[in-house]
Amino acid sequence: MALKFIDQAEFKGKRVLARFDFNVPLDKEDRSKISDTSRIDLAIPTIKHFIENGASKITLMSHLGRPKGKKDEKYSLEPVATYLAEQLGTDVVLADAPVDAGVKELLTLNETKIVLLENLRFDPGEESDEEEFAFKLSQYGDIYVNDAFGAAHRKHASVYGINKFYKNNAYGGLLIKKELEALNKVLETPARPFVAIIGGAKVSDKIKTIEKLLISVNHLIIGGAMAYPFLKAKGHGVGKSLCSDEDVKLAASILKADKGNKVVLPEDHVVAQDINGESKVINSRGIDDDWMALDIGPSTINRYENVLKDAKTVLWNGPMGLFENPKYAKGTMALAKALSTSNAFTLVGGGDSVSAVQKSGHADKFSHISTGGGASLEYIEKGQLPGIQALKYGV
Ligand code: 3PG
Repeated sequence: MALKFIDQAEFKGKRVLARFDFNVPLDKEDRSKISDTSRIDLAIPTIKHFIENGASKITLMSHLGRPKGKKDEKYSLEPVATYLAEQLGTDVVLADAPVDAGVKELLTLNETKIVLLENLRFDPGEESDEEEFAFKLSQYGDIYVNDAFGAAHRKHASVYGINKFYKNNAYGGLLIKKELEALNKVLETPARPFVAIIGGAKVSDKIKTIEKLLISVNHLIIGGAMAYPFLKAKGHGVGKSLCSDEDVKLAASILKADKGNKVVLPEDHVVAQDINGESKVINSRGIDDDWMALDIGPSTINRYENVLKDAKTVLWNGPMGLFENPKYAKGTMALAKALSTSNAFTLVGGGDSVSAVQKSGHADKFSHISTGGGASLEYIEKGQLPGIQALKYGV
């Protein structure tokens, strides 16, 4: 059964219930401010589609953070409701709770067109995929739309169980469509050379994705803290760099499986004795005791730029160093720049690499920036996600 998208649905006079991933970062000092609105901005075309196609009522839902099944004002969707109202130029009423908060009554009022349910994770039924919670949500819409790509790897009530109540009336939104097209392009028929860049902190978080990619890529660039377990597994010293024994074992198994010598590792580093201390470049793969590597060095940047020069497809997940600190951002920013001028199909996924690309000022030069961190990794690994499977086949 093929996945149906909203351009195949009839919305005229219908009540829509739509799941988005409005899990956006909030400003640490002022939680009424959203520090990166991308996930909301990318959802707007789907909401506009409902309005333009005559939906009578639109109920939006999302999670924000991890409030663990209890109401916690810190995680209220209020800033999202305010921002949505500004962007859509219309009222967006925020309900007091995800369910049982007079939403049904609100939806019978003529003047209410768009309702945003309060954080779904204020109710324990969301994460436990409780049938009763999913049923209550389903009472708010005749049609169900899932456009929450970033949450599609979660088997939660609003993305998974709810499909049971929408046998022939469940559709994917425009963002999910775009995300799947971009990922399928990279995974099914990548133009070659196909290069993957994997960074970030822990090998164990990405081991399955790396194993899968190793089969299909031409080169696998490893950077960031992810690189040190690989260097240690090859017998180099890593000093005080982040590196667990478990990760070294996993890295060794990947290197053993790498018959085609596809893995490319750093050859020099920017190191410091502590994060706030003086930094220097060392021209060797190995790192002395007492020092920790916090970014890739200039020769490594050169080497990686050369590997990327001829690439026709590039998949990037995870930064090359501690880029939040400008002293250790050179490697990550150099790759963002190299990719911004590349002719390759360039796809970036994962919260940190996406914010690095946005910081670099080159975001608009990338072919696709995924809104899903965990979701895109799981899709690369398994070729499917529970929330998408449920939309396609029901539960
Ligand atoms: C994300 O930020 O990756 C998604 O919103 C999923 O959030 P979660 O990891 O808390 O389930």
